[in-house]
Amino acid sequence: MKLEDIKNITVLGSGIMGHGIAQSFLMGGYPVVLFDISDAILATAKAHIKKNLALFEKSKLIEEADIEASLQRLSTTTNLEEAVGKADFIIEAAPEDISLKQDLFEKIESFCSENAIIASNTSSLTLQAIGERVKNKSRLVVTHWFNPPHIVPTVEVVKNEDTGEETVDVAYELMEKIRKSPVKINWEIPGFIVNRIQIAMVREVLNLYKKGVASASDIDRAVKGSMGFRPASIGPLLTIDLGGVELWNSVCKNLLPDIESGTDAPVALEDLIAEGHDGIKSGKGFYDYTTDFSKEDLDKAIEQRDREFLNRLKNLYLKK
Ligand SMILES: NC(=O)c1ccc[n+]([C@@H]2O[C@H](COP(=O)([O-])OP(=O)(O)OC[C@H]3O[C@@H](n4cnc5c(N)ncnc54)[C@H](O)[C@@H]3O)[C@@H](O)[C@H]2O)c1
Repeated sequence: MKLEDIKNITVLGSGIMGHGIAQSFLMGGYPVVLFDISDAILATAKAHIKKNLALFEKSKLIEEADIEASLQRLSTTTNLEEAVGKADFIIEAAPEDISLKQDLFEKIESFCSENAIIASNTSSLTLQAIGERVKNKSRLVVTHWFNPPHIVPTVEVVKNEDTGEETVDVAYELMEKIRKSPVKINWEIPGFIVNRIQIAMVREVLNLYKKGVASASDIDRAVKGSMGFRPASIGPLLTIDLGGVELWNSVCKNLLPDIESGTDAPVALEDLIAEGHDGIKSGKGFYDYTTDFSKEDLDKAIEQRDREFLNRLKNLYLKK
């Protein structure tokens, strides 16, 4: 299988990730079949895609005519055989449940063409486990996207010892073709790379918060305007080179002994959970959504986030 052989894309699962992944392929010019377990879920997914395409158009990332053209390339079905029968590249974004994914992968292989590549968007399961009952394991690969997947550029392309080189190459090239920013992960280390780095940072953030070193809003503000500001343009390793390797080595030696390194669940999260809080779902997390942020403020903040993300996407990744 070569990149030129990929003509038809199928996305399985149309939830938070699936509908955005489908949109990325549609904007990349591919016909997409989107599968889910009910027509009602698919109708909601299609409405989200339509709304998100309009946001891309408002941000001048696509033309008005691209909205209709993209929607024309989309078809939906609740019939798995029909969904994968003509697909060359299938990406699974179903719930993170091992037995569900194992059943799905076995069925996909029985219905799809013998050359089709089957990718999973799993965040935490191994390809070996998901593909346990798949006969041709060389066609399996992980493509791990980030929420919101139609906007965030990075896709981690992950192989295991059974994955064919051609499979990895085609998955990588396909992500580039639809203007994502793929990275190759050489083995299935838990959390791949981005989530490991993110969790390491969050552990220290929660430690500082718990110790009362700064308020939630000051911690968020500090990160947004410094570390958060830089890595969208220059990654951490280039930041070290620019600052000086010796300097960073000294700072590491001085600070690492004092940085949180525990492996228990963070106390700041356990405390909130024990008090019955779950962030916006319950109305309180690190912020209170009845006093600090109204529902209206939150909606505005999310819309503002998407606009900022789209501007960044335009400036950093989609330069012509
Ligand atoms: N949400 C995230 O931020 C995120 C980020 C990266 C990766 N992931 C991974 O992506 C996958 C999907 O996550 P999500 O957040 O989109 O979940 P979700 O619950 O929003 O969506 C899952 C969708 O799959 C559908 N579904 C249920 N049974 C199915 C089946 N048998 N076959 C196909 N579809 C089925 C559901 O109806 C639902 O629409 C998971 O593996 C998750 O770990 C999620």
